Amino acid sequence: MWLRPASRLEGTPHLPGDKSISHRYAMLAALCLESTRILNYSPSDDCRRTLSCLESVGARVERTPEGVCITGQTLGAFRPPSGDLDCGNSGTTMRLLSGILAAQKFRSTLTGDASLSARPMGRILVPLRKMGASLACSAGDLPPLQISGRPLHGVEYVLPLASAQVKSCVLLAGLHAAGLTEVVEAIPSRSHTELAFPIFGIDLEVQGERLALRGGQQPRSPGLIRVPADPSAAAFFCVAACLIPGSRIRLEDINFNPARIALFRLLIEAGADIRVDRDREELGEPLASLTVSYSDAFLENLPAKIGGKMIPALIDEIPIMAILGSRMPRGLEIRDASELRHKETDRIHTVALNLKAIGVPVEELEDGIRIHPGEVMHGARLPSYGDHRIAMAFSIAALIADSDTEILDDACVAVSYPDFFSNLERLTGAAGFA
Ligand code: S3P
Repeated sequence: MWLRPASRLEGTPHLPGDKSISHRYAMLAALCLESTRILNYSPSDDCRRTLSCLESVGARVERTPEGVCITGQTLGAFRPPSGDLDCGNSGTTMRLLSGILAAQKFRSTLTGDASLSARPMGRILVPLRKMGASLACSAGDLPPLQISGRPLHGVEYVLPLASAQVKSCVLLAGLHAAGLTEVVEAIPSRSHTELAFPIFGIDLEVQGERLALRGGQQPRSPGLIRVPADPSAAAFFCVAACLIPGSRIRLEDINFNPARIALFRLLIEAGADIRVDRDREELGEPLASLTVSYSDAFLENLPAKIGGKMIPALIDEIPIMAILGSRMPRGLEIRDASELRHKETDRIHTVALNLKAIGVPVEELEDGIRIHPGEVMHGARLPSYGDHRIAMAFSIAALIADSDTEILDDACVAVSYPDFFSNLERLTGAAGFA
């Protein structure tokens, strides 16, 4: 994809349904005998993988232009798949589904693409084995993941890292397990699983850092539900509109869960021109619409160093945060983010490589990155490394560069946002495209 510098962004992009919430609604719907219609289901390749894996173990999925309709099986009654379950690029599919499959009465094998095959699964093997599960991986705890389903028992598990995928895996296993499962998380991660459980009639007790769930509760379909727009997709356009003079865009009905919106909060607190309206709650999830306009006075108010407990609420936005950092007068240091090394690519490394390639001086740190300010960004031929968020973040960099940019292997945006480029084209009036 060729992109040229843009003069402004204007309009209302069509944002995909939230990816994290779509995975969870689909998996829970597949555990109900009655049908669930899920509107605005994410069109991402990742969420399609979840659907096809669920179909392979006995769920019925109807795809319509409005979303999906899923008719499932009762708890523990999935049927053996005829082959491997291919999770593609999707870590969420593999890690969450493992919690469910570990408790079924059959063997299953979860595979992924080259990127997913290099991502650590030890983090789910440990708690699942404590619950009595039988699982095996390749050397280094890497996929494929072989599961021999068996009865599980509840445990107390203190999460050693902030990970919504691990938390959700344990909770889904706990739903199938005998007795009580308790999960303790010191640093909060996205809470979509906890918020989705009651929507499906599952009782989950939340007491501060401790989540407690009684096993064996049969989920009940809520009938018709809607997925809000994905804030992690909206973040790319938001940053572009903040940085490009004359821009004004509207981001409608995005999920505004506090564990997802650290980037928006940082921008608002720094005085970026972001008006928040229609804020409300739906299905337990906070939602809001944003009008984002260019303003010239917020960059200097952004903190020059970020880290600590804020990182999980910013984790998927760090590639685009790095582009913002390169425009900040004091630059930006991001710390406590070593989890980035285990994403679709080692994002500390791939962000650093591409920033260097466009002329931004950076230092790669063990747990983050130091971005130095003051340089003009140059157009370049930039690899995406097959990572959707790298492709989208550097497409935004391309709009503020001094010459044309080519993003290589751009089809990977379909992993989370298949219509990203067509929306970007509409917002920039096609002026962004060489
Ligand atoms: C996700 C959790 C996060 C995030 C990922 C989606 C989820 O990963 O980076 O894109 O849907 O639970 P961690 O579980 O590693 O925090």
